[in-house]
Amino acid sequence: MREITLIPGDGIGPEITEAVKAIFSAANVPVTWEEENAGQTTFDSIGELIPSTLIASLKKNKVALKGPITTPVGKGFKSINVQLRQMFDLYSNVRPAKTTPGVNTRFENVNLVLFRENTEGLYSGLEMFDERLQISDSVARLTRVGCRKIIRAAFEYANKHNCKKVTAVHKANILKSAGALFLSEASEIAKEYPHIQYDDKIIDNMCMQLVIKPEQFDVIVTTNLFGDILSDLCAGLVGGLGVVSGANIGNDMAIFEAVHGSAPDIAGQGKANPTALLRSAIMMLHHIDLKEEANRIETALDATLANREQCTGDLGGNASTMEFAQHIISKL
Ligand code: NAI
Repeated sequence: MREITLIPGDGIGPEITEAVKAIFSAANVPVTWEEENAGQTTFDSIGELIPSTLIASLKKNKVALKGPITTPVGKGFKSINVQLRQMFDLYSNVRPAKTTPGVNTRFENVNLVLFRENTEGLYSGLEMFDERLQISDSVARLTRVGCRKIIRAAFEYANKHNCKKVTAVHKANILKSAGALFLSEASEIAKEYPHIQYDDKIIDNMCMQLVIKPEQFDVIVTTNLFGDILSDLCAGLVGGLGVVSGANIGNDMAIFEAVHGSAPDIAGQGKANPTALLRSAIMMLHHIDLKEEANRIETALDATLANREQCTGDLGGNASTMEFAQHIISKL
């Protein structure tokens, strides 16, 4: 039995987490969950945003499945998600976006993986507000080491999975320092993988290309803010935030989580689609070498997604979160 840290999160987090737990249990996946939470929920009960017991659990288990955690907008505490990524140097944010039969979208053959740098750039936390001058600065700091790590992770992934092309996305025409550093490191590392096609795109053009012809992309690598925005755009290409998975991976720890947030507008109503968290959990099973279990759950999930009336409302069905999970379980 492999022990996994489970962070249910808040908002729709606990609902979708329960659905994933039920599916894992029905599929007899040999994992046990060590449940720990973070964010406002734990602050209210024990006065800690990231409890020391969660940190100890992550250090021990090295692998976690995490639900979304609400971050106050424009005020309050720093995102727990960002803090966990920085605390454990989970520098690769890996977000696959693939068309699924049965899930209605404008495009038919999207199959790409976005690698977003997860710890630096505009999310470095270097923020200042000068009261006297009324000037605010948010610094987009990139390090050469940080650029190299995420770019190499993207090329290594492309190499391992026989992907044809890696595209580096940047704004080096305007950001002559940070943008140029990222771009020059990408073109240097690309030379080490001559069998993989390499190109680069400026972020604004990239957005247009993605919504016109997303099939042309394979592996995309970019900095933190661009990656954050592009990954939601890519989610929209394949059916929305309810269906896309994500992983935060470092050298010796990985936290798997859906791309979406805590969806306060539908929280507690049994409407949330658990697919994104389930797909993240399937990525996790591949990561810990439980491939047979991963494939079995994925097949049952795909068969359910092909049946619109068995799906949740965001996909045009009328099943609740747990009814959707039960449909998956019945196909295991
Ligand atoms: P959101 O992703 O929570 O919701 C955006 C829209 O997508 C909403 O209409 C929501 O109902 C829908 N949606 C999201 N997940 C869904 C699901 N599984 N099934 C069906 N519909 C779904 O984004 P929003 O509203 O911008 O953020 C809400 C909170 O979540 C914020 O506090 C934000 O900081 C936090 N957040 C947390 C993340 C994390 O924990 N990794 C990631 C993104 C946002």
